[in-house]
Amino acid sequence: MANILIPYSTGEGQTAKIAEFIADVMRARGHEATTTDIRQSEGSVPGGYDGVVVGASIHMGKHDKHAVEYVRDNRTVLERLPSALFSVSLAAHGDTEEAEGYVEAFEQETGWRPSRVALFGGALLYTQYGFIKRHMMKKIASGKPGDLGTDVSRDYVYTEWDGVTRFAEDFLDGLPSGGAQESHSESAGR
Ligand SMILES: Cc1cc2nc3c(=O)[nH]c(=O)nc-3n(C[C@H](O)[C@H](O)[C@H](O)COP(=O)(O)O)c2cc1C
Repeated sequence: MANILIPYSTGEGQTAKIAEFIADVMRARGHEATTTDIRQSEGSVPGGYDGVVVGASIHMGKHDKHAVEYVRDNRTVLERLPSALFSVSLAAHGDTEEAEGYVEAFEQETGWRPSRVALFGGALLYTQYGFIKRHMMKKIASGKPGDLGTDVSRDYVYTEWDGVTRFAEDFLDGLPSGGAQESHSESAGR
């Protein structure tokens, strides 16, 4: 059984939902998975984990600065352990090149080159945005590729959950022994 940490940063909650979903997929396969909101966390990856999956969303063309700081501060651990990044944006739904560009910028800012990267479509939560944000997002959505929704009386979710499941399972399969190994902390001294 592997013990996986899933630190995420989220603005409106979609990255948190995806992080919880990944954790559920991993638990269903008999592993331990802990999600943690980067903004509320201690700032460093605690010992005892066998892998780390970082999630961050895009606002105004950038990943959240807390995620950038977290990854910079924990780069050594992320390079030592099996680790992956999932990036959540609207571009991932309709403009993969743009979404890839966000990840390239993140890699340059942090110096971390994750061996696995997933681009997940995010959400347009018009009913939860305030007046200005709602109208700004409608304008952005109508100008972007991907046929994004513009009916501000409802929300749109572009996350493809089958792809999230595959990403979580592939991550586990890529662990030493296909994720069947003991946690480092648990195996110590046995
Ligand atoms: C104010 C705002 C700005 C955004 N800017 C971008 C952007 O520049 N590019 C993009 O692809 N998506 C953009 N999005 C879409 C978000 O990435 C998407 O809503 C995602 O689900 C947010 O994840 P979160 O809820 O975990 O923060 C923006 C969303 C908001 C609300």
